[in-house]
Amino acid sequence: MKRHTVAIIFSTIILFSCNYYNEEELYGNEICDTSNITYDEDIKPILQQNCYYCHSSSVVYSGNLNLENPEHIRRVVDNGKLLKNIKHEADGDPMPQGGAKLSDCKINKIEKWINLGTPYK
Ligand code: HEC
Repeated sequence: MKRHTVAIIFSTIILFSCNYYNEEELYGNEICDTSNITYDEDIKPILQQNCYYCHSSSVVYSGNLNLENPEHIRRVVDNGKLLKNIKHEADGDPMPQGGAKLSDCKINKIEKWINLGTPYK
């Protein structure tokens, strides 16, 4: 009886670690493709879903930041706040404010886009 319980516990652990591993693989290969980042396909949807709620032209925007406006994006890219805030670095304001941190994939895409020089085409 005891042995049986131990076996169940162990197979559960193994099962879960396998699932976890597969998820990582899937994540690495299929979902997070940073090879061909564009503003319209990759960056805008992230900002729309996670940031426009507080930082767009249709709201009295927070921190005087309208993330629909390329000039405003340029400002927070140049002063380093965009990356600092979405990465939840100690000396920033964690964004989205009051919400969960963006996935590593989304952060990687934004960082890649910044490294490309924030192209809009
Ligand atoms: C719930 C509202 C809310 C959401 C959602 C939100 N922010 Fe903010 N954001 C704020 C507020 C409020 C401030 C001003 C912070 C302060 O001064 O303490 C701010 C400030 C900022 C700043 C600094 C602006 C500056 O000029 O110093 C950046 C960059 C920023 N947010 C980026 C983002 C990004 C990127 C997202 C989406 C991933 C996001 N925020 C989502 C409320 C929000």
